[in-house]
Amino acid sequence: MLKSCGRKLVLSVAGATFTCLVVLLVAAQHQVIQVAEVQIESDVGMRSLQSLDSTGGNAHDKSSSENESQDNSKSTDTKGFSAYFSKLTRDRRDLEKPASLAGSASEAPPSEDINPNDIFIAVKTTKKFHQSRLDLLLDTWISRNMQQTYVFTDGDDEELKKKLGSHAINTNCSAAHSRQALSCKMAVEYDKFIESGKKWFCHVDDDNYVNMRTMVKLLAHYPHTQDVYIGKPSLDRPIEATERLADNKMKPVNFWFATGGAGFCVSRGLALKMSPWASGGHFMDTAEKIRLPDDCTVGYIIESVLGVRLIRSGLFHSHLENLQQVSKSELHKQVTLSYGMFENKRNIINMKGAFSVEEDPSRFRSVHCLLYPDTPWCPPLQQVDLIVEGLKDLALRCQ
Ligand SMILES: *[C@@H]1O[C@H](CO)[C@@H](O)[C@H](O)[C@H]1NC(C)=O
Ligand SMILES: *[C@@H]1O[C@H](CO)[C@@H](O)[C@H](O)[C@H]1NC(C)=O
Repeated sequence: MLKSCGRKLVLSVAGATFTCLVVLLVAAQHQVIQVAEVQIESDVGMRSLQSLDSTGGNAHDKSSSENESQDNSKSTDTKGFSAYFSKLTRDRRDLEKPASLAGSASEAPPSEDINPNDIFIAVKTTKKFHQSRLDLLLDTWISRNMQQTYVFTDGDDEELKKKLGSHAINTNCSAAHSRQALSCKMAVEYDKFIESGKKWFCHVDDDNYVNMRTMVKLLAHYPHTQDVYIGKPSLDRPIEATERLADNKMKPVNFWFATGGAGFCVSRGLALKMSPWASGGHFMDTAEKIRLPDDCTVGYIIESVLGVRLIRSGLFHSHLENLQQVSKSELHKQVTLSYGMFENKRNIINMKGAFSVEEDPSRFRSVHCLLYPDTPWCPPLQQVDLIVEGLKDLALRCQ
């Protein structure tokens, strides 16, 4: 028994070494393919492979890692494998296409050259969650996006002010999770966005991870001056509501809305048109008129009042969906992620990352290390660590 386990272990070590070599080879191949194929998509995935490639863990120069054409020289003698791998990649892509709804928009060439600073990200939170939820976001994605992230809360917090300065906004709204309190916050978010002059308004909750690179990439496909409302509905049909008219009459309305829990974005062009129903105190009046929460009210103003259709995107994710279904290989392409509980069970994305589920229950730290491997608290070379972990596991079972 012991002997066979020892053999297994030796075989596994050999296997792991081989796997490492293959991974490195594939990383090199992948770069080659990228040069030949459309580059719009897997930029981020490639970058994480690249970081594997540049072993020593040197914080690599961004400008040089982004210039793919430099790596052309590596390609010359490996054409056959390259073609084979490229076919595999294409087949896989075809298979995965139906899963990403408006991810298909990212196939088209970008229409605008935007950068993270053109986006205003509003994070809605409440004082109760400053430590338990917000600190995680501040450690992860917000730390990379301080300039475009604004936190909307309902209480003063000196610690938060120290970290975010004027980007920590006390809305003075009630801390209750009531319809009115939520709409009150959305009203302040809207006004602050208009004031900021930025091109895109994106709203997320304090349990969302935002991948800024993919968000920029997605929004770059739409002109910010036109009417764009993009996100993911949480219902499979339009919501039915009743609008209260001035003369005490009721009128049924049906419209789609993007669920706030997954995050959504609105172009500046469209946001300006929303002004009569959203600016100043008007957002709350509008919400009262249909007696629905903040995200539904946004949908109502855009779809019902202005007649603009929601663009559905499968790249936004809320805790209301089964997060296990987010494809592991497509994690880096998602715009938002979330975590939470569903029917008393943990609802989190399925990934083997830098940290265990016990260390990182939301999986956000692991996601962050996947996207930004140069983060100081991320373990270097996490992929190799994973293989070692697997071996340890086997060794333990052998004892
Ligand atoms: C990338 O490579 C091209 C072609 O070699 C060169 O013209 C360009 O200046 C490079 N850009 C950067 C950022 O290094
Ligand atoms: C909330 O109240 C404080 C103190 O009165 C004020 O300075 C601040 O501007 C208010 N916040 C908003 C968003 O109006």
